[in-house]
Amino acid sequence: MSLLKKIHAKAEQDGFITFDQYMDLCLYYPNHGYYDNKNISFEKNKSDFITAPELSSVYAESIIEFYLNCKKFKNINNIVEFGAGSGELACNFLKNIDRNFIPKKYFIIEKSLHLRKQQKEKINKILKDERNVVEWIDDIAKINDVFIIANEVFDAIPSKIFIKDNNNFYERVIKIKNNTLYFSKIACNKNVKNLIKKIEERINMKFPNNYMFEINFQYEKFLEDIFNGVNNFIFFIADYGYGEKELFHKDRNFGTLQFYKNHEKIKNCFNNPGSFDISISVDFSNLARIIKKHNIALLSYTTQTEFLINTKIVENSIKYSKDIDEINALKTLLFPTDMGENFKIMLLCDNMNSEFNIPFKDYRHKL
Ligand SMILES: C[S@@+](CC[C@H](N)C(=O)[O-])C[C@H]1O[C@@H](n2cnc3c(N)ncnc32)[C@H](O)[C@@H]1O
Repeated sequence: MSLLKKIHAKAEQDGFITFDQYMDLCLYYPNHGYYDNKNISFEKNKSDFITAPELSSVYAESIIEFYLNCKKFKNINNIVEFGAGSGELACNFLKNIDRNFIPKKYFIIEKSLHLRKQQKEKINKILKDERNVVEWIDDIAKINDVFIIANEVFDAIPSKIFIKDNNNFYERVIKIKNNTLYFSKIACNKNVKNLIKKIEERINMKFPNNYMFEINFQYEKFLEDIFNGVNNFIFFIADYGYGEKELFHKDRNFGTLQFYKNHEKIKNCFNNPGSFDISISVDFSNLARIIKKHNIALLSYTTQTEFLINTKIVENSIKYSKDIDEINALKTLLFPTDMGENFKIMLLCDNMNSEFNIPFKDYRHKL
């Protein structure tokens, strides 16, 4: 069944679809979703957006630098990369790491079968001793002693959308009439209302009428699977987003939902679903609360610039000093108005040697 037919059928049958269900279908419906179809491409001239690992291999070199530093304090010999996209980060990690430190295993957990295939093709082209450690798995349970990477994965995990209207909170849902999809709203239940009330208390602001915002209810299960299934880990999360005081700023009254096609924002998310990316800025305070609930240590919350500068990106870029594309990539990665400050790095771990010193400027107070 085509994606549009599937969406229409579900909306007809259930009376509406919630936005997280819509986002999930649009991105991951097998063979038709944005990430799970044969035309998905992360290549510079064919992609709809560009991620840090695709910009330059020096990004992977920074992650290697940090990984090797962590290894001095913690016995982590495996890597698990969630949502590996084209496989670029995995390739650059394995190609650039000192031969003596090639991980025992580099596991990839990828939701899209088409991307899995592209990753395999790309990784097959690197050297045998590098590619031999790579393995695709469906589940992280029982993978221990591991450095976990999730680069721009949380922003692609479906969220629900809410709106305050006439002093009441509603969930935004999608309905169908005369074969046409449109946004509508349903009343929030007591639990959600309580949750929103708690956000208002923490940020010390009442949402104004017509304020739209997202809450992600899937982060918890995603993190729980890791926290309950893995022993001895450090988890590297890189994504765009904010702490909740910044995220739910009164001027951000349309939320952070974005649709991208050909490197441009598009407005209508009902026109040709599956042909554009959908993403939502990460609520890092939400992640921090889940982490705390599970007694996991939040080692650091910092900006991408801080992380990259402290993991030798400038030193590693010198070899490219005559390559204008690489210089531009470095600017994109580091400039505050570009990725530098919009992207954050969050580092977690289950237990850490107290001598482990994180050299990044700390922004945990913003969570
Ligand atoms: C925005 S892309 C980022 C790709 C890559 N990490 C990069 O930075 O270039 C999001 C990736 O996460 C994958 N993904 C989303 N949810 C996932 C999940 N629950 N488990 C594994 N992969 C997931 C998508 O299929 C896609 O590969």
